[in-house]
Amino acid sequence: MNYKEQIDLTKVPKHIAIIMDGNGRWAKEHNQPRIFGHSKGVVSVRDVVEGAGEIGVKHLTLYAFSTENWNRPKLEVTALMQLLVSTIHKEAENLNKNNVRLSAIGDLSSLPDSCLKELNNAIAKTSNNSGLNLILALSYSSKWEITNAIKNIINDVENKKLIPTQINENTISDYLCTKNIPDPELLIRTSGEIRISNFLLYQIAYSELYFTDKLWPDYRKNDLFEAVVNFQKRQRRYGLTEEQIIAE
Ligand code: FPP
Repeated sequence: MNYKEQIDLTKVPKHIAIIMDGNGRWAKEHNQPRIFGHSKGVVSVRDVVEGAGEIGVKHLTLYAFSTENWNRPKLEVTALMQLLVSTIHKEAENLNKNNVRLSAIGDLSSLPDSCLKELNNAIAKTSNNSGLNLILALSYSSKWEITNAIKNIINDVENKKLIPTQINENTISDYLCTKNIPDPELLIRTSGEIRISNFLLYQIAYSELYFTDKLWPDYRKNDLFEAVVNFQKRQRRYGLTEEQIIAE
């Protein structure tokens, strides 16, 4: 089924976040090494980024490498970093042509120099673009982000830049990596796992969650459109009653 034509383009989520999962299992099913699954995952990234742009998504956050992923076998970590470097290098011009702005969240200082350099080049090259904001979560975890935010808040309080009694929910948001980016309205996870895995914990307080059995290397823009169609059928109540929502 073609889901794109079912989408109400006036109600597309401004921010979609995706936990891209299942590369390893996809590779295993195809009798290939795990990194082969990651390489195939890049094809999905390209297609989904294109699809998000087509329907007018403003921000797309992709969980590409978690803080915990550093504990994977060294060979896989090295191969993943190399894949990131080569993909960002190859795709930067294409992203630019398509008016996509690249950005990144996470403990970026822990990335290898070659990766950070390529990333910063692509970020600078695309910084004036006004289309989709593609946010790569790299060496990211929510617990790391929140811990960091608390440290920075304490520092600013000590330096009298912040008054404790004035701290509210928006202040916390302002100290997260996603400052100035609206919270995701839709969070998608592929591969049949039903968990959040330390991703955007503060930001997804009211996100709609969508889980699919498809493994990431099989995921395409039509699957994204299907998730958006599903999202548009949901009633978002934010703690109110159904009657209150209808009366609004
Ligand atoms: C999860 O699958 C996937 C990752 C940890 C890496 C995702 C990276 C890519 C798709 C390639 C590069 C991306 C960009 C943005 C250039 P898994 O390895 O956990 O799979 P498994 O659960 O089946 O083992």
